[in-house]
Amino acid sequence: MADLSTEYLGLKLKNPLVPSSSPLSKHLDSARRLEDAGAGALVMHSLFEEKIEEEDANLDRFFHQQSLGHGEADSFHPTIPDNYRSYEEIYLEHLALLKSSLEIPVIASLNGTTPGGWVNYATALEEAGADALELNVYYIPASCHEDGRQVEDRYVEILESLRQKISIPITMKLSSQFSSVVNVAQRFEQAGANGLVLFNRFYQPDIDLETLEVVPKLELSTSEESLMRIRWIAILHSRIDCSLAITGGVHNATDVLKALLAGADVTHLCSVLLRHGPGQLAMILRALGEWLDEREYESVRQLKGSISQNNATDSSPFLRSNYVRVLESFQPPPGVQW
Ligand SMILES: Cc1cc2nc3c(=O)[nH]c(=O)nc-3n(C[C@H](O)[C@H](O)[C@H](O)COP(=O)(O)O)c2cc1C
Repeated sequence: MADLSTEYLGLKLKNPLVPSSSPLSKHLDSARRLEDAGAGALVMHSLFEEKIEEEDANLDRFFHQQSLGHGEADSFHPTIPDNYRSYEEIYLEHLALLKSSLEIPVIASLNGTTPGGWVNYATALEEAGADALELNVYYIPASCHEDGRQVEDRYVEILESLRQKISIPITMKLSSQFSSVVNVAQRFEQAGANGLVLFNRFYQPDIDLETLEVVPKLELSTSEESLMRIRWIAILHSRIDCSLAITGGVHNATDVLKALLAGADVTHLCSVLLRHGPGQLAMILRALGEWLDEREYESVRQLKGSISQNNATDSSPFLRSNYVRVLESFQPPPGVQW
């Protein structure tokens, strides 16, 4: 039986299948089912900047604004009920619970877009036992006053302030929409990232033609989406030293194998587990092991990066050279006349 172990962010994992940030980590039962199915590690759902700040603002109003301008009420100071738990406390308690209940590494997740006070919670996450931290800067750059370099600086600034606060590994969940992915990946590495997660999947709002309103829409992914990520994993593999994870469109052992061949250290699963349940991970793991055994691979390590875009030349299929050939090879579908 091939050795499926891998290393991610300096952590030794028994295999490269890691459920990514999702509601599945919110309940101990589903987290346990993921571990029982064989998950190599678990990324928690995120602690969100806007929720932290909303809670802080609410508490501020509760304490400071109630008494203003009400005569004798000015001396009245409300107290918070003993059993009150803030958003952050609930997250930290849950992290501690996952850590004490699971044997696999648990990666906490911080999610926000500005280098503000919310970043301070990283210290508490480290103290609560997180094995690593994933930073997701889910940012839509829609201002004409912010150029591309400033968008990158925003990521770097948040990362640097995190790096100063904690010593556990940090991995960055990236947007695919940078002008120069390799350059920005190297900037993140230099700023202290131990890993990169490629790529965030941006949800696209839809327009309802009946109500003429913009409506939020969450469609789960398909395998097709993994190919763009696999290309960039292959390109980055020989160009940076930090760990690489793929997220987006990994649904079966075939997707996992392609990502590993391109150079991923771990493959994140989300849509497939939400669609079919945590048990699906065990089926993917079994199929991965069988494929390696049938081809007499001794380990995932042996396979990893073997089809990356190492020693890049312009003739690499991961770069432009294949472009014209691919376009010219397209044929009309059967029965369709052009
Ligand atoms: C319902 C749902 C909740 C998610 N919650 C988070 C989250 O809290 N933080 C985060 O960084 N990503 C979150 N994601 C994104 C996933 O971790 C993952 O990166 C994305 O779905 C792409 O992977 P997939 O194609 O396997 O679904 C969520 C995705 C879904 C569908």
